[in-house]
Amino acid sequence: MGISIGLVGLGAFGSEFADLFKSHPLVDRIALCDMEPERIARFAKKESWRDKFNERDAYDSLDAICASDLDALVIITQHWLHAPQCVQAMESGKHVYSAVPVITIPDSDEILEWCDRLVRTHERTGMRYMLGETTYFRPEAMYCRRKAAEGSFGNFLFAEAQYFHDVEHGLRGVKQHRLVGKAGLEWIEKSADYQRRGILSGPMHYPTHSTSGPVCVMNARALKVNCHGTPVPSGDSYFDDTAFGNETALFRMSNNATVRICEFRNCAFAGTESFSIYGTKGCYLKKNGHKSEDTWQDLWSEKSLSVAEMRDPLPPEVVEAFRRSGRGDDFYGGHGGSHAYLVHEFVDAIANDRQPAINVYEAAHYMAMGAVAHKSALRDGETLDVPDWGRAM
Ligand SMILES: NC(=O)c1ccc[n+]([C@@H]2O[C@H](COP(=O)([O-])OP(=O)(O)OC[C@H]3O[C@@H](n4cnc5c(N)ncnc54)[C@H](O)[C@@H]3O)[C@@H](O)[C@H]2O)c1
Repeated sequence: MGISIGLVGLGAFGSEFADLFKSHPLVDRIALCDMEPERIARFAKKESWRDKFNERDAYDSLDAICASDLDALVIITQHWLHAPQCVQAMESGKHVYSAVPVITIPDSDEILEWCDRLVRTHERTGMRYMLGETTYFRPEAMYCRRKAAEGSFGNFLFAEAQYFHDVEHGLRGVKQHRLVGKAGLEWIEKSADYQRRGILSGPMHYPTHSTSGPVCVMNARALKVNCHGTPVPSGDSYFDDTAFGNETALFRMSNNATVRICEFRNCAFAGTESFSIYGTKGCYLKKNGHKSEDTWQDLWSEKSLSVAEMRDPLPPEVVEAFRRSGRGDDFYGGHGGSHAYLVHEFVDAIANDRQPAINVYEAAHYMAMGAVAHKSALRDGETLDVPDWGRAM
């Protein structure tokens, strides 16, 4: 049986997912919600949406769509809103998908409290939560999880993962763009209040693109962390609310491996979300890192990996529906083609009453790794414990 789903937040990123959610064969009915009406109209007026969208299902606020009878909500709003909106959705009886990260606000302790609240809300309401972490469904993450499941890494030793995104490569514009409209204007006030109280954020408050890769492949948890940051460039207002331009953390993991995470926003190496993972029997090496191609290497051999061989298959009926959604063979979408997998994973999990792969326990841990790393950096690299909320049952 199919499900009904509401898309909340149809800005730059939410719009990328709208046609995929609408065309999934297990979605019977779709609703649209944004505080800016023209963002709804872009999809509401489409001829190809008539089969699943009715004008009654256009909403101008989260409160209004939470009062509907929809099964699930997909929240792709600004990053400081995610966790409170997801709690509200679950409280109102809706399963929920959240864009990454779990939440980004300047106060690390407040982030940890929101992680805890999300887990508790899921447990109390029985509503499911999934984080739309694109790294989880990059081809290399799928490949490495398969290699890990068959034991090909041997014992895990070390992983390095990074999200390098210098502010000059698009981020200044993104920050400005997210501050327009009603939701953006509200945040300008709140953000100034954190600064008045001397609470400064850091790149580790947007950590899930880097922390998720090693954690999901090794199926381990971070136990302890030390982290250091580099100073913000002086006189650059982009960094007014942050203590560091870049942060580098070292984690001790529950499987005895060590994981190095870099979150850089002030670095000449423009852009990568990537990881490499080293075991006693096998290693995965990311191109741009040490290799010109994605590579699997064991003690005796080395082979280059193609995207097609790294990806998991999607069900044929889903592939067919996504192809017909208007993108043809290019339906996979951005961030390594992860968008199609994220949509399928959430819809399939809710329709089949199972936990999604990137459930609330995984998501909270990915986020907590960054929040505690930032706390360590603020304390000159003090070793701190990383909380864990356990595993999905
Ligand atoms: N790789 C990735 O996973 C990735 C990439 C880009 C963006 N993102 C995430 O996606 C999110 C959205 O980014 P964006 O660039 O689309 O932002 P955006 O500002 O373009 O869009 C956000 C939309 O949410 C709407 N909104 C906010 N609160 C609402 C409410 N209460 N009710 C209804 N609508 C509401 C806004 O009006 C706006 O249209 C960000 O939080 C970002 O973290 C993730």
